Amino acid sequence: MAEFTLPKNSVVQKGNTYKAAENTKNIRVFEVYRWDPDSGENPRIDTYEIDMDKCGPMVLDALLKIKNELDSSLTLRRSCREGVCGSCAMNINGKNTLACTKPIEESKGTVKIYPLPHMDVIKDLVADMSHFYAQYASIKPWIDTQTPAPADSERLQSKSDRTQLNGLYECVLCACCSTSCPSYWWNSERYLGPAVLLQAYRWIIDSRDENTGERLDELEDPFKLYRCHTIMNCTDTCPKGLNPAKAIAEIKKLLVQRQQA
Ligand code: SF4
Ligand code: SF4
Ligand code: FES
Repeated sequence: MAEFTLPKNSVVQKGNTYKAAENTKNIRVFEVYRWDPDSGENPRIDTYEIDMDKCGPMVLDALLKIKNELDSSLTLRRSCREGVCGSCAMNINGKNTLACTKPIEESKGTVKIYPLPHMDVIKDLVADMSHFYAQYASIKPWIDTQTPAPADSERLQSKSDRTQLNGLYECVLCACCSTSCPSYWWNSERYLGPAVLLQAYRWIIDSRDENTGERLDELEDPFKLYRCHTIMNCTDTCPKGLNPAKAIAEIKKLLVQRQQA
């Protein structure tokens, strides 16, 4: 049987422990992945005991308390703290989600926090999103038109056309779905992944866009689209309650309808 071993410099080691003050009654333990490329050291897991009587309710509150009060070197992304910027995506107790909308009380026992899986890590909880954003740019995420805009109004939509965008426009591009997708793990160089495909569908289905045919041409590709095998991890993990797997299925349906027309 084949045996695989991790390169020595990738083995995660036990790190530092930050104990809560004596007599603290309401303690939760957080284990956090740490890696500093400049140190030359292996990744490690640091352990922090947090006094929950002095901490906000969300996982992001605990991380910011750690950064502000215990260990300022902890590196993470966040901005809005209300689930609309998508910056604080990470893996919490085995599931990709937004730290700012994840209540600590939903986790039993130790809260284990890692960066988004299968992404290069820049430092600690910060994943390298460059490739993900380049893939997003590749689907032309804007209204693409040939006809001139009306002289005296915006390009308008009917209410029912606007309704088509529900369940799509809410995507905050956090990448929780793409980084939970096994097909994306193995083929991310060529497979666009659920987040970018949901976005692609958002522009395909927009009644104001005039490039639907070209958009579908671009996606009619064995790797860009058809690496989705309907495993559904993406829909299961989306912290905004969206359904990228359904959007992917809708694109496939449009391609079939186009062939039959
Ligand atoms: S449904 Fe498709 S995109 Fe979603 S996790 Fe499965 S393979 Fe990936
Ligand atoms: S579909 Fe959901 S999980 Fe995927 S990027 Fe958008 S908001 Fe994040
Ligand atoms: S900080 Fe903006 S989504 Fe979490």
